[in-house]
Amino acid sequence: MDYFNYRDGELFAEELAVTALAKEYGTPCYIYSRATLERHWHAFNDAFGEQKHLVCYAVKANSNLAILNLFARLGSGFDIVSRGELDRVLTAGGDAKKIVFSGVGKTSAEIRYALEVGIRCFNVESEAELERIQELAAAMGKIAPISLRINPDVDAQTHPYISTGLKENKFGISIERAEAVYRHAADLPNISVQGIDCHIGSQLLTLSPFMDALDRLLALAERLEQQGIQIHHLDLGGGLGVRYNNEKPPEPADYMRQLFTDERLKRYEILVEPGRTIAANAGILVTKVEYLKRSDYKNFAVVDAAMNDLIRPALYSAWQEIIPAQPRTAGELETFDIVGPVCETSDFLGKDRDLNIQAGDFLVVRSAGAYGFAMSSNYNSRPRACELMVDKAQVYVVRARENLEDLWRGEAPLPA
Ligand code: LLP
Repeated sequence: MDYFNYRDGELFAEELAVTALAKEYGTPCYIYSRATLERHWHAFNDAFGEQKHLVCYAVKANSNLAILNLFARLGSGFDIVSRGELDRVLTAGGDAKKIVFSGVGKTSAEIRYALEVGIRCFNVESEAELERIQELAAAMGKIAPISLRINPDVDAQTHPYISTGLKENKFGISIERAEAVYRHAADLPNISVQGIDCHIGSQLLTLSPFMDALDRLLALAERLEQQGIQIHHLDLGGGLGVRYNNEKPPEPADYMRQLFTDERLKRYEILVEPGRTIAANAGILVTKVEYLKRSDYKNFAVVDAAMNDLIRPALYSAWQEIIPAQPRTAGELETFDIVGPVCETSDFLGKDRDLNIQAGDFLVVRSAGAYGFAMSSNYNSRPRACELMVDKAQVYVVRARENLEDLWRGEAPLPA
């Protein structure tokens, strides 16, 4: 459930009309709802009940400081994948001791910094990375807390670009190698084995792949414990899907209930790394219709947002709902492709959408809070959109629209 609803013939973000916000702050613009973000975070956190756990919000989904700060205030943990994300979390008031660090390519500088600030755990993705962490920790006189990210070889049944738990994917350490690598890790003097980690993919709509992965993780944990290697936490990653169209994803509470049908789970602290489930439906992208372009073959609505603002349709053929901010009461529905001004055929936000619109109308792309702004770029020298956060009847600019100078900051012509 979110707080973007029609009322009195127009769309509201909490208590503010979207059209009025678009007029005041310009388009394209992202609008987030504080109440929705907090509700979704709580949906995960509260589903654990008394169970020891930590929700580590996946920063990559939406890393705006205001959003990170809201979660920090709730006591959230964070899943990061770069120095940039680590600094964002700390700047936003997040607790280093609640940060887990994922990613296959951690640099030495990133590892050193994470050791310095004292993060909760490295999710180690390869044997070479384990050796590197050992060396760096030894040089700094520190003990590095780690879990190994296990690639359990389960099919997440999602888009191939966001499937990560198959053996052909670059992520994690194969389940076959896992025991040997854990034994080695346990012998390393500057490594402290904390847990087992796993993330099998994103936008999962059924629970069975999670259960398959969990089963393999629990069996591994038992085998390790028999060998005297104590496992304190299981990190189950993110990946729970959301509703973009007619999907019926399990709710976080259903997910937890299903997970905990396996009693063995209760022995461990459980970490989860949700990104999309928390942020996607807490944000919209508002865009203005610049032109309607009709032909015998196709109708286009050319809007002022483009693939540089929201790349999911172009990159994953993702479908996101597109609705008018102020539905017209007169006129007819027509079928449009909603396209941006970027010079690429893949620059579309939606295809074959039935809409009753005119130039100048505002359209809203729903479910844009996750992997929306975070994946935006300056392609075609387009300044990035502004980001607004609505909190009941208040609105805050949480990222100003980029200006033209921002486009070439750091660039320099050669001397004359
Ligand atoms: N943990 C790790 C290690 C991850 O790699 C990811 C996402 C997450 C957690 C969060 O997963 P979520 O709960 O959001 O599914 N850009 C794509 C999604 C890429 C996901 C990458 N990893 C999209 O727009 O669909």
